[in-house]
Amino acid sequence: MITIPVQASKPYSVHIGHGLLAKAGDLAAKVLCPCRALIVSDDNVSPLYADALAQSLQAAGFVPELYVVAHGEGSKSLQTLADLLEHMAAQKYTRTDAMFALGGGVVGDLCGFAASVYLRGIPFVQIPTTLLACVDSSVGGKTAINLTAGKNLAGAFYQPSLVICDPDTLRSLPPEILSDGCAEVIKYGVINDRELFCMLKQGTSPACECVIARCVQNKRDVVEQDEFDTGLRQLLNLGHTVAHAIEKCSDFAISHGSAVAIGSVTIMRAAVARGLCPAKDLDALIALTAQLGLPTSCEYSAEQLANAALSDKKRTGGSITLVVPYAIGDSRLCKIPASELQAWFAAGLI
Ligand code: GLY
Repeated sequence: MITIPVQASKPYSVHIGHGLLAKAGDLAAKVLCPCRALIVSDDNVSPLYADALAQSLQAAGFVPELYVVAHGEGSKSLQTLADLLEHMAAQKYTRTDAMFALGGGVVGDLCGFAASVYLRGIPFVQIPTTLLACVDSSVGGKTAINLTAGKNLAGAFYQPSLVICDPDTLRSLPPEILSDGCAEVIKYGVINDRELFCMLKQGTSPACECVIARCVQNKRDVVEQDEFDTGLRQLLNLGHTVAHAIEKCSDFAISHGSAVAIGSVTIMRAAVARGLCPAKDLDALIALTAQLGLPTSCEYSAEQLANAALSDKKRTGGSITLVVPYAIGDSRLCKIPASELQAWFAAGLI
């Protein structure tokens, strides 16, 4: 087991290791008193792993109960949140009880947000079962639901009490969901970890314990310096300005991971065109992205993507912050006038 401590406003540990699901109860008992434990999961994940988690929690003195939501982005909604909170109130959960998010990013974001607002905050534990959730969304305390106007528009920074990541749970993932997570793994390599990028290039599995741990360390280092996303943490949005625009233009038919992969390539190509980044690094990124089964281009024009991006919540006034790769392992924040965004996209698209 690899343990990574996170010194955020609420310190906690991320445990990564094979077979940890069966030890979740013992690990949780080290940071929480025995209590009622509401396991929130979805209808894909719960049949696979909820029993094992419930048994482990029960053996450690917790009183588990399972709450299942429909799988998919649709569950990050006000209605699902309201139903979950009403259930907790009806079942008389108290502030000394805890929630356990068992699933991918949707379940983690929903459960985390519910934990942050129920009785003004109760403890929660993240148990990610997708690669994306293991390396990104379960760590760092961003919780949210979507509103009609856009994704993640209502949420809170609310750190978990513990993160338990068992890579065995990734074995049941459909290949396209695993690839989605690979895009976020590559992202850490491009942002500031050239060695990770080389490991992936040489064939190390993105879903192995050591790669997940390396990504979590990268994320931890950023979150510890900028927990509330006022500066440095925006580096984690590499490729995401383009990605959100692609997701929007495709009406979410193109998955987040695929969009991030295309977005990262697009922004690096624009950096190459502007003489900021060596062309060989772009070639390496395109090769690794394809090697991990992800797309590198899309059919949308720079104008379509810029229009979609400029209605994104990350725009502040007349400027937009781009994450620009100067090399594999060296990405920097670059504030540009919103009026220049379309030209950046045009330089990055083929
Ligand atoms: N997923 C980006 C962040 O946590 O800031």
